[in-house]
Amino acid sequence: MRLLSIETSCDETAIAVIEAEGTEESARFRILGNALLSQIEIHREYGGVFPALAKREHAKNLVPLLEAALSEAELLKEDTQAFPEELTTRISTLLEREPELDEAFFASLSQMARPDIDAIAVTAGPGLEPALWVGINFAKALSVVWEKPLIAVNHMEGHLLSALAERTGGDDIVIEHVGMPVLGLLISGGHTELVAMNEWLSYELVGQTRDDAVGEAFDKVARMMDLPYPGGPEISKLAERDREDFSTMPFSLPRPMLGDSTCDFSFSGLKTAVLYLLKERGSLSEVEKEQLAREFEDAVAEVLWSKSSRAIEMTGAKTLALGGGVSANTHIRRVFTEEIERNHPEVALHIPAGEFTTDNAVMIGLAGFYRMLRGEHADLETLRANGNLSLA
Ligand code: KG4
Ligand code: ZN
Repeated sequence: MRLLSIETSCDETAIAVIEAEGTEESARFRILGNALLSQIEIHREYGGVFPALAKREHAKNLVPLLEAALSEAELLKEDTQAFPEELTTRISTLLEREPELDEAFFASLSQMARPDIDAIAVTAGPGLEPALWVGINFAKALSVVWEKPLIAVNHMEGHLLSALAERTGGDDIVIEHVGMPVLGLLISGGHTELVAMNEWLSYELVGQTRDDAVGEAFDKVARMMDLPYPGGPEISKLAERDREDFSTMPFSLPRPMLGDSTCDFSFSGLKTAVLYLLKERGSLSEVEKEQLAREFEDAVAEVLWSKSSRAIEMTGAKTLALGGGVSANTHIRRVFTEEIERNHPEVALHIPAGEFTTDNAVMIGLAGFYRMLRGEHADLETLRANGNLSLA
């Protein structure tokens, strides 16, 4: 089965084409086309994602990305038949709210032969609603033109399932031999949660942040330290430099909620502690900045590990999967690898390969396939963006 997948929940516009086969227990994928445009440079001057701008950029990028993904998959073929009147009206209604997309859609899609795909998967949430809507309306328009079913995907399920995926070489991926329950630690700019998957696609929330998401804490602390957006990679770079120098740590930041009996998190106190420290110090030297970044990362990694370890014990998890942008963090990856080996060697740790940590459309295709296996289809009339869509 061949799926076209679309992701526009935040500041990455992405379209992929994947070939998928198998069952939930043993699924096989091949990436046929994978196109992505990051808006990071555009949002940088605002110090964060600016929703109206994200929406405009998605609308501008979707058609070129569709062409790129289909062309890579060798599915882009020309056909100059004009759309029938009835189709034109339906698509125009769907794209009414996306003027940038509307024009490009007609210019390009009316020149394109219907590609050999079986379904269209699109992120329905969570994320920024105006951004999600662009992808959804685009997917709906494609579904009308190509007469293909639509599948609504939860972005977090995409992160979790893609964390379970293993590359078997080249563009081939498998998801198999997954020990249940799976514990997912989903850490991104908008989310920090521990979710248990006791059987395929059935979720239970084990813990979550009570205030800021981890990625948000990285981004806010980075901004306080005059580092560019997104802050995670910047803090990581500084901290890694200090780790190489083995300097003595002059700073001490709190490890919020470390000792409490829940699997919940809190990061706003940690962020405030950095703010006070910076106010008190006035300015920091380059070395001190590196040290502060390291102490912040240590505090985050310690709390994330400690809560994950508690959650492993509570759920009896056989698999721990990290997903979301923050799972790209070198130090967090290192801490989890070492701690699992030392304390829970019976648990299989899955951390996605670099390109699958941050948002992409391949993960949406993977999750779309799992939903298709269950016979789930989204309804063209009722499918809506849901910024707060949750897994459990
Ligand atoms: O999953 P993602 O791409 O988008 C959301 O769904 O939010 O995650 C983005 C977040 C940002 O907060 C970014 O600062 C953080 O992931 N991030 C990192 C690293 N790379 C990205 N945080 C820590 N260390 C990194 N290396
Ligand atoms: Zn994400």
